[in-house]
Amino acid sequence: MSHFQSGILLEHRRFAIYLEAMVEGDLDAIRLGSQQFLQQLAQLQQRYPDAGLGAVIAFGNGLWGDLCTGNRSTELKDFQPLGKGMAPATQRDILIHIQSLRHDVNFSLAQAALAAFGSAIRIAEETHGFRWTEERDLSGFVDGTENPQGEQREAVAIIASGDNAGGSYVFSQRWQHNLAMFNRLPVNKQEQIIGRTKESNEELEGDARPATSHVARVDLKENGKGLKILRQSLPYGTASGTHGLYFLAYCATLHNIEQQLLSMFGETDGKFDAMLRFTKPVTGSYFYAPSLEQLSAL
Ligand code: HEM
Ligand code: MG
Repeated sequence: MSHFQSGILLEHRRFAIYLEAMVEGDLDAIRLGSQQFLQQLAQLQQRYPDAGLGAVIAFGNGLWGDLCTGNRSTELKDFQPLGKGMAPATQRDILIHIQSLRHDVNFSLAQAALAAFGSAIRIAEETHGFRWTEERDLSGFVDGTENPQGEQREAVAIIASGDNAGGSYVFSQRWQHNLAMFNRLPVNKQEQIIGRTKESNEELEGDARPATSHVARVDLKENGKGLKILRQSLPYGTASGTHGLYFLAYCATLHNIEQQLLSMFGETDGKFDAMLRFTKPVTGSYFYAPSLEQLSAL
């Protein structure tokens, strides 16, 4: 029996902290840091049971290859740029994803993470995500509606069997929105970009849904079966400055995430996601989130 990390499947958490880092120190410091981080997480979960705190630590391909003692995850690779650089690659070594109902508790765990890893890592990005009104993206469209729910979440996100049982593949991509530009568009044009209605959040059907709409780009089938992923994205940023969506997805197979990305960035049929008119990705990394058993065996 294997166990997945506590931050992967959580629903309706209000805040997140996303830390992306590069390794500076030796591997033993990373092993020790990971154990200490899990201990601090357990302490905060015990101290603030109302916070619904969970977290994930995940590794890029190079680092996981060095750390992994058993059979390494077979699908993991470095993220490469897509769409002639429209989706840049900034492949990091470590991702720490913290989420709960309380920003103050998240902040304590982020501080504990920095203390646990010390000079063994250098933080490349720290993003503070928040749940906006009605679980909407800052574009004003509800985000997460078609996310897997209930038992489906584990089925989609967690590797079910084999050496990597309990593990999960992860993709992070921070997007920066141009809301002034988006909000100048009439609402029906905005809806054609996303592929759903804005206020009432209904799917556009048939001809009303352009092939370039976001939903049409990512609602994919292979041999009659839907390519599902579990999204844990949140809005981030300041009202006056940089803001957008920190996109984060978990999946039992990297393949599903990659197929959606290829489709968004013109790599399957030459069509690009219409969202690129108002928003652009500025980072991109693939990671592997080991099972708790794999983490404690490091
Ligand atoms: C659906 C927003 C990036 C995968 C949606 C929806 C919105 C949205 C509003 C419709 C409601 C829902 O079902 O959640 C955004 C924004 C993005 C972004 C603002 C970045 C700025 C991505 C990326 C991927 C992705 C990079 C995949 C790698 C999906 C999937 C769905 C979805 C799988 C559900 C489609 C369905 O089955 O109907 N997104 N998204 N999204 N998005 Fe995104
Ligand atoms: Mg669908």
